[in-house]
Amino acid sequence: MTDDFIIIAHRGASGEYPENTLLAFRQALEAGATWLELDVQLSADSALVVIHDETLERTTDGRGAVAVKALAELRQLDAGRGEKIPLLSEVLELAAGRATVNIELKGAGTAEPVAQLLGQRKSAGLIPADRILASSLYERELTLFARLAPGTPLAPVAEQDSPALRRLAEELNVWSIHLEKSSISRELIAEVQRTGRKLLAYTVNATDELERLRDWGLDGVFSDFPERFSGKQGASFRGG
Ligand code: G3P
Ligand code: MG
Repeated sequence: MTDDFIIIAHRGASGEYPENTLLAFRQALEAGATWLELDVQLSADSALVVIHDETLERTTDGRGAVAVKALAELRQLDAGRGEKIPLLSEVLELAAGRATVNIELKGAGTAEPVAQLLGQRKSAGLIPADRILASSLYERELTLFARLAPGTPLAPVAEQDSPALRRLAEELNVWSIHLEKSSISRELIAEVQRTGRKLLAYTVNATDELERLRDWGLDGVFSDFPERFSGKQGASFRGG
């Protein structure tokens, strides 16, 4: 994985396109994104679907909780501009060989089926995403995933730093820590990096903010507008 500044397309190119849809992920890739972030939840019949909220109202024309709907019902819904709620497997297929995918284990009970899906794709010889980074706000999901998919890079997600978060980071030997941007300081960046981990901030959309965080030495950001920073990733970004 690159040591250069990382820009992760947060829910795809979600500033311009409906979040967590194949359209948003495709547009992010076309704009040059090399990292995609998505949120995964479980349907009532245990399908892994890519949607942020536990409920359907904000991002689709459906109503109620995702977890009580069968996949067939979820797939009838409009997730924006006629897009369907994608399956995790569809996004992995789209990103295959093109991008690192940060799978955020958002829904309860997602760790096991996600680990299973990644294992199945591997044994079927399907082209993998360049890399998978599994993250979660929930200690239970991340810890279980670590056990079921050893070797996959991990990241805890939190609003802010805390002793419990650092303890989990040590226990699971995570690759990175993902924090809400307002809780980031120069000192915190240095402190996390001293432990050999990366610190990433969500959600950063303004260029001046991104440049300030990068100048502080932050490792990367989640952005709804990856297209805004395209051509600025990696060495060329560092250089200018
Ligand atoms: O994982 C970073 C970020 O996606 C966490 O917040 O609410 O956008 O999933 P949220
Ligand atoms: Mg997320």
